[in-house]
Amino acid sequence: MRLNSHILATSRRYCSMDTQTIRKKYLDFFAARGHAVIPSSPLVPHNDPTTLFTGSGMQPLLPYLLGESHPKGTRIVDAQKCFRAEDIEEVGDNRHTTFFEMLGNWSLGDYFKEEQLQWFFEFLTKEVGLDPSRIYVTVFDGAPEIGVPRDEEAIAIWQRLFEKASVSHDFQEIGSEENGYRKGMESGARIFSYDAKKNWWSRAGEPGTMPVGEPGGPDSEVFYDFGTEHDTSWGEHCHPNCDCGRFMEIGNSVFMEYLKAETGFEKLAQKNVDFGGGLERIAAAADNNPDVFLAVDSLSGIVKHLEEASGKTYHEDTKSFRVIADHLRGAVFMMADGVLPGNGEQQYFVRRLIRRSVQYADTLGIAEGTLPETVVIIANTYAAQYPEIDEQREIIREALAQEEAKFRRTLSKGIREFEKYAAKDALSGRDAFLLFTSYGFPIELTQELATQRGIPFDTAAFKEEMEQHKQQSRAGAEQRFKGGLADHSEKTIQYHTTHHLLLRALQDVLGAHVKQRGSNITSERLRFDFAHDEKMTDEQKRAVEKLVNERIEAALPVLKTVMSKTDAEALGAEQEFGQKYGDMVNVYSIGPKGATPENPQFEHAASLEFCGGPHVSNTKDIDGIFRIVKESSSSAGIRRIRAVLER
Ligand code: SER
Repeated sequence: MRLNSHILATSRRYCSMDTQTIRKKYLDFFAARGHAVIPSSPLVPHNDPTTLFTGSGMQPLLPYLLGESHPKGTRIVDAQKCFRAEDIEEVGDNRHTTFFEMLGNWSLGDYFKEEQLQWFFEFLTKEVGLDPSRIYVTVFDGAPEIGVPRDEEAIAIWQRLFEKASVSHDFQEIGSEENGYRKGMESGARIFSYDAKKNWWSRAGEPGTMPVGEPGGPDSEVFYDFGTEHDTSWGEHCHPNCDCGRFMEIGNSVFMEYLKAETGFEKLAQKNVDFGGGLERIAAAADNNPDVFLAVDSLSGIVKHLEEASGKTYHEDTKSFRVIADHLRGAVFMMADGVLPGNGEQQYFVRRLIRRSVQYADTLGIAEGTLPETVVIIANTYAAQYPEIDEQREIIREALAQEEAKFRRTLSKGIREFEKYAAKDALSGRDAFLLFTSYGFPIELTQELATQRGIPFDTAAFKEEMEQHKQQSRAGAEQRFKGGLADHSEKTIQYHTTHHLLLRALQDVLGAHVKQRGSNITSERLRFDFAHDEKMTDEQKRAVEKLVNERIEAALPVLKTVMSKTDAEALGAEQEFGQKYGDMVNVYSIGPKGATPENPQFEHAASLEFCGGPHVSNTKDIDGIFRIVKESSSSAGIRRIRAVLER
């Protein structure tokens, strides 16, 4: 009985504003200010080899921030599904999640600081109803070495806004994070300036680490003050960027007006605003509850289900509840975007999310088969905004159930292996590492079993092995970022156009059923996944190569046309897998010879695809002979081609 009343105590919590309401208010607010609402891009970006997952709202908009014209104009707003794989180990505290929704609004060379800061402040205080005295902000302190001064303009705007809201508005210079802990907020300031580590944003971080061609700029972050006591284990004094939990960042306005050039920084042709705000975090602020797993409806619903299934309360083992709730939601969104658990780069993350959930579910004593039931809860919570989950509910549930069953078998196998190691007197870091990498046996379990048996276990040595392993993967990730900047490397762009030619050639040779199921393009090669049931014969491969090479030779013009989605569909233009489109789209056509923007002769084109670009302007700019290096099975019913342009 006691248990039940505890469960009720958690489940009775009501969020003061659910995420569906906040999302809608945000989109409406910016739509009323001239912004076109665009749908979220998929979690797995297509045609962007620089990253595995969409991790911020701006990623899909990169070409437009760099100057390409957006079919919907210069004011854009959306809610973007995001996944940050690097945060997987952080999940367990009250705020980190791998999946989240980022609210974003963009000015593509339209409005700038004045409107942006005023609108966001107005949205938070008037629409969401946050108390202005709980809001603190940060601005860029300047970086003389790159010729960018302190953002006095943003400081002045914030001072006016806070003054109007009748709250204090003093400014305090901070600089580095260390200074933050030293100086703290003793002065009672509300506006703080930090160095580039904190208040400069680009996909690659600070100015010094940005590759040539990358856009970025100073930013201004907004923090919500939960008013909790400062935890001095973080540092002497609290300050907005302190991680003790008192402050939570809820939105970031990037004033993206710089481009990293060979020699320092240049101004972009247009001044952009790139705003991103965590929907869940804003909901937590609205609820004045720093725990997103309780404050956010989409997570608290899962927590409640897990409480019922385990007979335990959230407060008995918050970490396990948080990990399962976050990971299941992330995995479900990923699967709804077509990424099922497997060994491919992205598929592996889905596998990891599910396996970690099962492991923690096991700790909570949750029986097999309970986790797949959460798919319905998640599908219902998100039905209005992301119907793709509900539409594929059964497929997702089945995939989750299968992966759970498989992993439960691995777990028992891992335990048998553990017994072998445990027969020795001690467990080395290497043993635990091997259990982890070869059998997928989680370290937490190794630790737990070792403690249970009283076997000494060298945790430090294990951590060292893991650190080395991580550094190797990080080096890999950096390579990926540098190697494949699709938008700046000429070769990558050539591969991108070749990719379009390949799809059409496959359809010509194998049949119209061939559909794109994934792609990954770097400056070295292209990889193309497509729906087809059989292994290709050598003859078919040669025929495809021949068609692609003939079309490259033919010097066909490549044209971009903006048209309505209905027109593009009527023309039979290929859509990207899992992608959602607004009502106006970009269509790239290749050929025929003599086609012009005025007379594109779509019916004779050698390729027609919904696509954001960029592409070469004529196939004669593709340098090399197209060759299929490998054709293999990727998963059931999906083939994978790796191909190169050889000189
Ligand atoms: N790009 C910025 C961020 O991710 C704002 O959208 O924080």
